[in-house]
Amino acid sequence: MNHFEAKGGALCCEAVPLERIARDVGTPTYVYSTATLTRHLRVVQEAFAAVPTLVCYSVKANSNLAVLKLFAKGGAGFDIVSGGELERVRRVGGDTRKVVFAGVGKTEAEMVAALKAGILMFNVESAEELEALSRVGRQLGVAAPFALRVNPDVDAKTHRYIATGLKTSKFGVPFDEAMALYARSRKLEGLVARGLDCHIGSQLTDTRPVREAMTRVGGLYRQLKAKGFPLTHLDVGGGLGVTYTTESPPGVADYARAVIEPLKDLGATLVLEPGRVLVANAGVLLTRVLYRKQTPAKHFVIVDAGMNDLLRPALYEAHHDIRAVAPRKGRARTVEVVGPVCESSDVLGHARRLPPVAQGDLLAIMTAGAYGMSMSSSYNSRPRPAEVLVDEDRARVVRTRETFTDLMRGETA
Ligand code: LLP
Repeated sequence: MNHFEAKGGALCCEAVPLERIARDVGTPTYVYSTATLTRHLRVVQEAFAAVPTLVCYSVKANSNLAVLKLFAKGGAGFDIVSGGELERVRRVGGDTRKVVFAGVGKTEAEMVAALKAGILMFNVESAEELEALSRVGRQLGVAAPFALRVNPDVDAKTHRYIATGLKTSKFGVPFDEAMALYARSRKLEGLVARGLDCHIGSQLTDTRPVREAMTRVGGLYRQLKAKGFPLTHLDVGGGLGVTYTTESPPGVADYARAVIEPLKDLGATLVLEPGRVLVANAGVLLTRVLYRKQTPAKHFVIVDAGMNDLLRPALYEAHHDIRAVAPRKGRARTVEVVGPVCESSDVLGHARRLPPVAQGDLLAIMTAGAYGMSMSSSYNSRPRPAEVLVDEDRARVVRTRETFTDLMRGETA
């Protein structure tokens, strides 16, 4: 469900024609729908209403302040992975007591900032990190609340770059070592065990690995409680997939069942870290056709957005539907939609059937709200796109297009 629909032959975001946004703000531009964002958060919260749950939006998926503010207002907490993300949460007045901090490489400075901000817990990913957190807790004279992120060794059956729960992954501590590490934490000052954490991967389309991982971590949680660790929170990570093309991920209710059933008797507050499912289809990347070029092998449509603006196709061979904003009549043809960046991998859509397009036409790259702008760069010295948030019939620029001054900020010749 999303709020990008054709009305009178032209694609709109809620009640705003994308053509109007392109005219007023230029291209390339990310466009987000308030109604889709708020609806998705509510659907996830409601699916877990039967058990105590805290939904911590995974900031890395889309870290625009306006998006964070909507989620903060909707009662969400936040899953962060850096001091920069913590600062974003603070800037929008997010409740730092609802923040969980993950990542294999937190610096001590980041730990200090998060501890001072009073976050819910650190999801610790190694023995050495636990020692560092203990040092920081001692220095500040407080007990740093932590969960160990365990690696449940299940195959999430997702792209190898975004599967995180296998033994070979850099994430988490090996399942069998977790108990010993919790035991060790008792001897370290400046720490308090608050939870247990796992995350098996992203773009999950099958509930079986989820259920399997929950069963494993649920068992460990029970053992830890039996040994007297004062755990209150079980963080189940994020990862629920969305439909980019032919995937059929479980609905939120099915996902909720797979999570809740193995865990419902634990008495734990569940922490969820959804990213993609909340924001992916709430956003599109709006781009304009610069040129067409026919070679003996292919028809190219060259647009003004590139892999620096949306990296997913180049990095993961990810598929994003591409739609003409005002489709022309005529015979569809198979084209390569490519960007201006000097790399052969700068292909936004490979072998796409599109209606006829002409120079100046607008295309919408769909389902680009997650890991789009947040993974963008200025490679090829391309200023990064603007971002626009639509709310019913209003469109508001929530990040201005980068200027050349922004591009070279801090550089000296
Ligand atoms: N929690 C942890 C510990 C994570 O590592 C992630 C994502 C999430 C939650 C949120 O996962 P989600 O619900 O969004 O699947 N750039 C890739 C995705 C990388 C995901 C990294 N971790 C992409 O564009 O597909």
